[in-house]
Amino acid sequence: MGTAIGRTRSDSLIEVRRLREGDAGAMRELRREALEREPASFGESVAEFLQLSSNAIAERLGESSNENFIFGAFDAGSLIGMAGFFREQREKRRHKGTVWGVYVTTRYRGQGVARAIMSALLEAVRELPGLACVYLTVTSSNAAARKLYRRLGFRGFGIEPRALAVNGEFFDEEHMVLFTDPARGGV
Ligand SMILES: CC(C)(COP(=O)(O)OP(=O)(O)OC[C@H]1O[C@@H](n2cnc3c(N)ncnc32)[C@H](O)[C@@H]1OP(=O)(O)O)[C@@H](O)C(=O)NCCC(=O)NCCS
Repeated sequence: MGTAIGRTRSDSLIEVRRLREGDAGAMRELRREALEREPASFGESVAEFLQLSSNAIAERLGESSNENFIFGAFDAGSLIGMAGFFREQREKRRHKGTVWGVYVTTRYRGQGVARAIMSALLEAVRELPGLACVYLTVTSSNAAARKLYRRLGFRGFGIEPRALAVNGEFFDEEHMVLFTDPARGGV
């Protein structure tokens, strides 16, 4: 899985690539920031995530494969955004994969960084033989993320009421899917 280069609207170059073992510290910081700042956007709590040491994250990143990986966006070597993907492994479910953990640090938002990460991720995923559907969930009130995914071709197929409970408040989630084999028809 190669490196992709994207360009922000302010015309600076960003590198988008799969995270490796050596990115564990930066990934841990960015994920912690995401969970702290946007608790209603993610299913994992900060406390749950912090149980994972940098070493455990490094080990997982070292074990990444074409079917289970995190893509990161870098500006001058700093990790500024990320998105994860995993493919189902059971025989009857191997046509499906899930995107998770999409996040861009505040300062870099609105410049096409998430689009660059997601485009690179989807390009990589389209190379997987037999992979036909990419799923994700997004908090219904998250207009920015819902628009991003729609622009990339995802379609909603259901709302899960009260999918998340954050500090006593419930949040609905929209389930979305992208068919990566459009010849067989889209949602
Ligand atoms: C959602 C998020 C990842 C978007 O990242 P970003 O780098 O700012 O997005 P981009 O600049 O690449 O925008 C891509 C598209 O997303 C949509 N979008 C992004 N920000 C938006 C906003 N504030 N309002 C409306 N649409 C928005 C637009 O369709 C945009 O394309 P367009 O400008 O050509 O219409 C970012 O806001 C974020 O990290 N939010 C907090 C975490 C989160 O909600 N993650 C998603 C969990 S499912």
